[in-house]
Amino acid sequence: MRIRDFGVEIWMNRWETRCRYNLAETCVDSLTLGALLDLAGLDQGALLEQLLAMRLTYGAIEGTERLRAAIAALYDTATPDDVLVAHGAIGANHLVYEALVEPGDVVVSIVPTYQQHTSIPESLGAQVRLLRLREERGWLPDLDELRSLAAGAKVIALVNPNNPTGSLLDGAALRHIAAIARRAGAWIVADEVYRGLDQDGAGTSPSLVDLYERTVGIGSMSKAFSLAGLRLGWVTAPREVLDAVSRHRDYSVISVGMVDDLLASLALEAREALLARNRAIARANLAALDAWVRAEPGISYVKPRSGTTALLRYEADLPSESLCLRLLEAEGVLFTPGSALDIEGYLRIGYANNPAVLREGLARTSAFLASLAD
Ligand SMILES: Cc1ncc(COP(=O)(O)O)c(C=O)c1O
Repeated sequence: MRIRDFGVEIWMNRWETRCRYNLAETCVDSLTLGALLDLAGLDQGALLEQLLAMRLTYGAIEGTERLRAAIAALYDTATPDDVLVAHGAIGANHLVYEALVEPGDVVVSIVPTYQQHTSIPESLGAQVRLLRLREERGWLPDLDELRSLAAGAKVIALVNPNNPTGSLLDGAALRHIAAIARRAGAWIVADEVYRGLDQDGAGTSPSLVDLYERTVGIGSMSKAFSLAGLRLGWVTAPREVLDAVSRHRDYSVISVGMVDDLLASLALEAREALLARNRAIARANLAALDAWVRAEPGISYVKPRSGTTALLRYEADLPSESLCLRLLEAEGVLFTPGSALDIEGYLRIGYANNPAVLREGLARTSAFLASLAD
């Protein structure tokens, strides 16, 4: 199977261990296991006892009932039977496209996006139609354009809240998109791994899972829940899709680990506390980023409304990869170049990582930009 190189993952694999200030990280500042237990009000000794007594079988093949119930509780309409657990959202997305897409199918993908949503369908022989988000529209899709692209499509793929732009489709926009998909008879693959990190209001916007009956919802412990080390994601979808996903899953997953299943259950059962902690980080860090952008003459952006990422437009006359490599070399600060996301002239920042790292990384970026201007 031929597939394009995964721009962002290649960039991260190469550089994320070779920087001092990682402003490319898209997870909220990851928790230690100890901190997770404290946040959840759980006793470390009791957990250790439970782990020591655990017989390490494959465990529940599709995820324990307890875990699937905790996942279903993230939606208004889902039950544990609507959920299938996978190895991260990356595993979930992969299985979903294998299950849904055949050669010749039309897939509409809203870009820039997480590259799985274009490159995997393409590798499976689909005709991939791109709907480009534009900065002047606040990185929100033109829904008239979506309506015309969706004619004859089997799947519409979107990431909401969006990576990399940080834009957010609210309930009204999602209903509109659902109506377009319904008319086209298309599935929506809704990658919602950043859901729960809105900058305003209660912090969690509606899920397409609750708004459109042919939604394949993707979620994960990695981003909004700051526990990427669990490598645990999920698919929430109607039975016919879950059955098709299961048939592919049997060839590549068997089960997620029992330890991951247990820890994800504990974390999701404490989701209010966990999301409150993570939203506080995302909000305070975005305020710091916003102040920096306002003060930095060569940088502008559309302020994110949710998630952990933003696209920074820069004025320096350099390709984004050269800019990133020079900044990394000079100051040890890592961004993701727009070129890795097929959107030249921008840098992606992940701003919800450790606050001190963000502050120092931005200060060093200012020094670097000033030296470029000299
Ligand atoms: C939109 C999106 N989907 C999926 C993933 C994969 O996440 P996971 O760690 O759950 O595999 C990422 C990671 O960056 C992402 O940004």
